[in-house]
Amino acid sequence: MESGASVKQRIARISAHLNPPAISQVEGSCGLRTGNCRAKGGSPGFKVAILGAAGGIGQPLVMLMKMNPLVSVLHLYDVVNTPGVTADISHMDTGAVVRGFLGKEQLEDALIGMDLVIIPAGVPRKPGMTRDDLFNINAGIVKTLCEGISKCCPKAIVNLISNPVNSTVPIAAEVFKKAGIYDPRKLLGVTMLDVVRSNTFVAEVLGLDPREVDVPVVGGHAGATILPLLSQVKPPCSFTVEETEHLTSRIQNGGTEVVEAKAGAGSATLSMAYAAVKFADACLRGLRGDAGVVECAFVSSQVTELPFFATRVRLGCNGIEEIYPLGPLNEYERAGLEKAKKELAGSIEKGISFATK
Ligand SMILES: NC(=O)c1ccc[n+]([C@@H]2O[C@H](COP(=O)([O-])OP(=O)(O)OC[C@H]3O[C@@H](n4cnc5c(N)ncnc54)[C@H](O)[C@@H]3O)[C@@H](O)[C@H]2O)c1
Repeated sequence: MESGASVKQRIARISAHLNPPAISQVEGSCGLRTGNCRAKGGSPGFKVAILGAAGGIGQPLVMLMKMNPLVSVLHLYDVVNTPGVTADISHMDTGAVVRGFLGKEQLEDALIGMDLVIIPAGVPRKPGMTRDDLFNINAGIVKTLCEGISKCCPKAIVNLISNPVNSTVPIAAEVFKKAGIYDPRKLLGVTMLDVVRSNTFVAEVLGLDPREVDVPVVGGHAGATILPLLSQVKPPCSFTVEETEHLTSRIQNGGTEVVEAKAGAGSATLSMAYAAVKFADACLRGLRGDAGVVECAFVSSQVTELPFFATRVRLGCNGIEEIYPLGPLNEYERAGLEKAKKELAGSIEKGISFATK
């Protein structure tokens, strides 16, 4: 027979994920202690926090990350609904330990000791809106969340999904600079959905399996700043002018295609969660020390005269280990690059001035 005290202790542990202890109650000053976890993960792995975890992207993203064997601890933070999402996800019989955090007063507990922080918090587009229209709301949300990261997990890799990515990444960089913890290798704007869409649409045109196709997408993550390099597709192939124009336009407007089809109910969530997990997994494989992990992302860069730019980057133990140049561009891509840079410059500047005002 077990003693009443040990049964009580077990019950307390079972409900711990829904009622995380205050920061002062956590042993030491940082790091999640296994004693506070509801279940023990099967293998050692990384600690990942998702901020905006109860949203349209957040929920499928959390589910897919709970299935990732590289994750040992998964923290779900949102300003609404995290207890329900956490309880639901925590029933999945995978290794990662799941804990929920609700509201600003629990942000720091959610972030302490994290290796990777993924941010899909904020409002999505409605039909007729550009990503830039989201700036006023999402800029403030990203700033607050990044202040929390500066304080609680300054060495974490940050995957920023909240739009407009072309401005929110510069905002995050300024917040980190102000806190004295900025490491450009660790801040990555997630443009993976543009790559995922490009692979799919190009595979359709070529009659290939999309898993065999790799399209580099450079520039940024909005309209004309999304520049697929169709001359560098793997496997090597060629397109007619009409095909190039059709594909480029469909890739640049892929987000709008979803926003319009959802007719007011939001923007891409399922494909975005898939893309975010594909990207987060690459970051974790890099952290683990895997060789040759290369993906596109919007990062601090010297590839062009702009301070931020999306290109292929190699991921490793410190985040970004190498930023690849653009490679040879054809005439169509060179014209697209000039257009992209012009728009991107304004969005970057907007982010920097918001954060430094
Ligand atoms: N990078 C990309 O490729 C890409 C693609 C699609 C969408 N997005 C962007 O991702 C963001 C989220 O989209 P969604 O469809 O999931 O929106 P959503 O409204 O369904 O979910 C957003 C979640 O963020 C939460 N939230 C709001 N303020 C918060 C705060 N201060 N702290 C923590 N959480 C907060 C909300 O409660 C909500 O649960 C939007 O900005 C959208 O434009 C980016």
